[in-house]
Amino acid sequence: MRVALMILLGLVVGIIGTAKVMSALAARNPMPKAVMQTMDYHMDALSQALKTKPCDAAGIRHHLERVQSTATDIVPTFGIPDQPFTDAAHLLQTRVQQALQSPPADCPALAQAMKSVGGACKSCHDKYR
Ligand code: HEC
Repeated sequence: MRVALMILLGLVVGIIGTAKVMSALAARNPMPKAVMQTMDYHMDALSQALKTKPCDAAGIRHHLERVQSTATDIVPTFGIPDQPFTDAAHLLQTRVQQALQSPPADCPALAQAMKSVGGACKSCHDKYR
């Protein structure tokens, strides 16, 4: 009887422990998604500018710079040690940097920059998302 009780107690403790560990794992690291959502917010703002046509240089530059600085958080927060992943993150940084070398000042230039930067998002998503 005593042994059976101890086994039952062990099971209950085990189940509670497992549930705790699982919820801790789920809440583990909000950063990868936060980084992606932040970049998405700025890319959305740029798409919106393209649609409604006030492609003003200062706004474009601001959003591109925010994507640029946020992109530097991809590798450290995702912790995916694959070389192709790191390369994909660097490709994004390179594309944003190219776009910022002469920041788009009108809609056609913005459309071109969006295509280049968006392509870098997509090439990583195709493989890793
Ligand atoms: C180096 C790889 C890589 C690059 C570059 C990249 N992403 Fe992602 N992205 C991912 C991965 C991996 C996920 C899935 C993350 C997850 O589900 O935990 C993801 C998920 C997302 C999500 C969904 C987030 C969520 O809350 O589920 C959005 C939105 C997103 N990315 C936007 C972007 C945008 C915009 C860019 C370009 C400016 C970009 N990503 C560039 C790898 C990348």
